Amino acid sequence: MSLPTKTKTQSPPAGPAADSDAPLLAIEDLRTWFDTPQGIVHAVDGVDLTLERGKTLALVGESGSGKSVLGRSVMGILGSHALTPTGSVRIDGRELRGKSRKELRGLWGPVVSMVFQDPLTSLNPVRRLDVQLTEGMAVHLPLSKADRLARAVDLLRRVGIPEPERRLRMYPHELSGGMRQRVGIAIALACKPRLLIADEPTTALDVTIQRQILDLLAELQDLGGMGMILITHNLGVAAGRSDDIAVMYAGQIIEKGPTKNVFKHTRHPYTSALLGSLPRLEDPPHSTLAAPPGRPPVVVDPPRRCRFAERCSHAQARCLSEAPTLDQDTSAGTSVACFFPVGTGRGTDALKRNQEAGRTAAGLAVERSVA
Ligand SMILES: Nc1ncnc2c1ncn2[C@@H]1O[C@H](COP(=O)(O)OP(=O)(O)OP(=O)(O)O)[C@@H](O)[C@H]1O
Ligand SMILES: [Mg+2]
Repeated sequence: MSLPTKTKTQSPPAGPAADSDAPLLAIEDLRTWFDTPQGIVHAVDGVDLTLERGKTLALVGESGSGKSVLGRSVMGILGSHALTPTGSVRIDGRELRGKSRKELRGLWGPVVSMVFQDPLTSLNPVRRLDVQLTEGMAVHLPLSKADRLARAVDLLRRVGIPEPERRLRMYPHELSGGMRQRVGIAIALACKPRLLIADEPTTALDVTIQRQILDLLAELQDLGGMGMILITHNLGVAAGRSDDIAVMYAGQIIEKGPTKNVFKHTRHPYTSALLGSLPRLEDPPHSTLAAPPGRPPVVVDPPRRCRFAERCSHAQARCLSEAPTLDQDTSAGTSVACFFPVGTGRGTDALKRNQEAGRTAAGLAVERSVA
């Protein structure tokens, strides 16, 4: 395993050209670390993910688990504190990691596009919306200026912005937060991306507009085969709108698989705690993440052991000395990184031992911090 370093990559690695047999997105052992005064933050720490064309992968996990950094790592937008990521990010079989900013710019829009979590920082405050909506189209789509503007109006209308012709001449500060979020979605869709990374795309929106936007995204997937990583705190949205789900904790994927299997045969105690308040697919679409007791760790120079152990109802001595790997669980039809999974004999025994010893998840944390 090669670790992130501060050296700048000189030139893109020679990779295979676009390959129609390859998955739309293949991420292998991706590590994105940040150099901070507190130490090296392992924001994304060995992630493997695959996404097929036309499919949606929901990425869930508590605040700070690394979801946005993972999305930005795929885009190649990380900021100056980031060490050069290691691992592989391929779209249609083409390696993105190591590409120059200029090369990446050629892909942003038609190949990969992102709805950023904070629409204020992603919109340019000094440029009108018509410019921001059409500049990518001018480079990537064979449209006249009039057609680009017509497409911009149509996109604004489809994301639920009233009077789109008038709004096109506005600046971002003239819009409400919810409108800015919708403009961010319209910009991300402007060049018909093959892969959309949607980072909390509907959090500031009311339920009706949220549904309209999620329906629009689903329609674009059906029509054009767009793949989507949907980052969300809303488990109802994740359950109803994704084919697969990946649960992130402290920079790593700790459980993933087809959404219905992860909900039906939850194996990781962390996922189980998250889903505790929402065990069924048919629950209402605005239920949000429940959190297990305690706080997720800030992953600075993490030790080699299970990162969830302190908060885990199933944790045993092994969890403090060894790091579980993400392995297939054939009985659940998913992959899970846990030595004592929920719903298995080992997991049930571990939970029973902790309960008999009178350990709660919070008590375990105290016990282990003393030990
Ligand atoms: N530019 C940066 N420099 C240093 N640390 C960073 C930087 N960006 C993110 N981090 C750290 O990386 C970790 C993951 O952050 P990230 O924003 O991906 O979390 P998240 O899962 O998207 O959370 P949320 O649900 O709140 O959006 C956090 O500990 C965060 O503080
Ligand atoms: Mg985020």
